[in-house]
Amino acid sequence: MSERSDEIGKTRPSNSFMDIAEALKLADELLFTHTGEHLDHLQEAILKGTLQGQKYAKIASENNLSEGHVRDSAYELWKALSDVLGEDVNKLNARNILEKIIISNSGSIEYLVNGNKVTICAKQKRSPKSSPLSKPNKKITCLDIDTAPELTEFYGRTDELNTLKAWLVQDCVRLVNLVGIIGIGKTTLAIKLIEQIQTQFDYIVYRRLRYCPTIENFLTDLLQSFISSIIPSTLDRQVNVLLKFLRKHRCLIIIDDLQMLFQSRQYASQYQAEFDGYYHLFKQIAELSHASSLLLITSEQPEDTIATRHKFTRCLKLPGLGESAKQILMDKQLSDEQMWDTLIEKYQSHPLWLEMTATMIQELFAGKVTEYLAYPDLILSNAITFQLSRLWLRLSESEKQVMNYLATQEDAVNLSQILQEISHPPTELLKAIQSLKRRCLLEDTPNFLGATYVENYRSALLKINPIFKNYLSSLPLLPT
Ligand SMILES: Nc1ncnc2c1ncn2[C@@H]1O[C@H](COP(=O)(O)OP(=O)(O)OP(=O)(O)O)[C@@H](O)[C@H]1O
Ligand SMILES: [Mg+2]
Repeated sequence: MSERSDEIGKTRPSNSFMDIAEALKLADELLFTHTGEHLDHLQEAILKGTLQGQKYAKIASENNLSEGHVRDSAYELWKALSDVLGEDVNKLNARNILEKIIISNSGSIEYLVNGNKVTICAKQKRSPKSSPLSKPNKKITCLDIDTAPELTEFYGRTDELNTLKAWLVQDCVRLVNLVGIIGIGKTTLAIKLIEQIQTQFDYIVYRRLRYCPTIENFLTDLLQSFISSIIPSTLDRQVNVLLKFLRKHRCLIIIDDLQMLFQSRQYASQYQAEFDGYYHLFKQIAELSHASSLLLITSEQPEDTIATRHKFTRCLKLPGLGESAKQILMDKQLSDEQMWDTLIEKYQSHPLWLEMTATMIQELFAGKVTEYLAYPDLILSNAITFQLSRLWLRLSESEKQVMNYLATQEDAVNLSQILQEISHPPTELLKAIQSLKRRCLLEDTPNFLGATYVENYRSALLKINPIFKNYLSSLPLLPT
């Protein structure tokens, strides 16, 4: 009956006349008529590869899956087709069998199965093939994104959108971290991304962790987006159901505000003890063989422990909006356009800070950028100050020491200088610096004074985020 061997030499050459899309459609419809289930992405990839004379190993590598997983799924697929057709279907004869059915029924949309005529429902439209797993008969994507904020204006971010699309759609990366300082536009970008890639997934689900649900509540809620049957009550069974679903269907799960699960007043990205279950879930999703993806959105870059292999996990750190930030100033109807570049540079083209500052310029200076910039210091609006103080409260004591020190420095400084001048154990200082980088509060700037690459690297200069520096400098007494 079903065939687990991969003797490619015995398969038919792939240059025969059979239209592969037609054969896939036939297999899909046969299965659907008998089982009520369509071919899933992996089954389709296996069938397509088989019809093209590919080995399981090739099918696996093209779809970023393990060969064992592909073989197991192939075994199930041949078994299902054998049951439907009443004859042994396997990797070696699948092509012949489907071809025979197509020839004997050409021109009709009815097929003879087990001596009975099977009528297939109306033909469906085909979607463009842009992913290795895209289906010829694309089903409708199930979207569960009701809790995502509505997108109003969207500017720039072409490179970031292209990068994310390539990772999620073409490379089938299983876990992507989208990281950036608060207000930089992470959520906005993710929502735009959904708009652009929704046809590539069977399911797209968006969830925010703002109210820190327990892992059990989170999973129960998530599974309700996927299955209509009773959700298991134990955590391990819930995880199993989810992982099985992710293998069977191509899903994109977007989890926003991940930093809510991390500890405050500790180094960045450490899960609070009660949320450890999330870490284990994400790790399993990253390590398991499937074609679904998880997009984690956070202002604190998660530890690399999950990201063991670049092939399956990636991280995108979001910078400012660049030139596109001008559109924000235009929307706010500011004047003195010749000074906009200066304003944008001072606020690092951070969209939210620029929006808040533009509102302040409207309210205090009737929209005149030149008058605002005539002040010697940057003025941080109350809204920006409020955001920065929330960030400040999350820092550990060592991080605050480093930030306070850097806020007093005129220029960027190198690592050894920090270690020498702050009286604190060097190991703690190094951890603090790493943590501040994960929070996007410290930036490396290359030191071009060094003579060689190695010297440049060793003496890389550290620079505090200028807006944060401004915030700290303006405090009457630096809080710790
Ligand atoms: N690409 C963009 N085009 C236009 N406006 C943008 C863009 N990105 C962000 N903004 C503006 O900045 C605001 C903040 O963006 P967003 O909420 O996406 O940031 P965030 O990084 O998710 O913040 P947080 O860390 O607080 O969740 C948005 O409400 C929007 O007004
Ligand atoms: Mg957000």
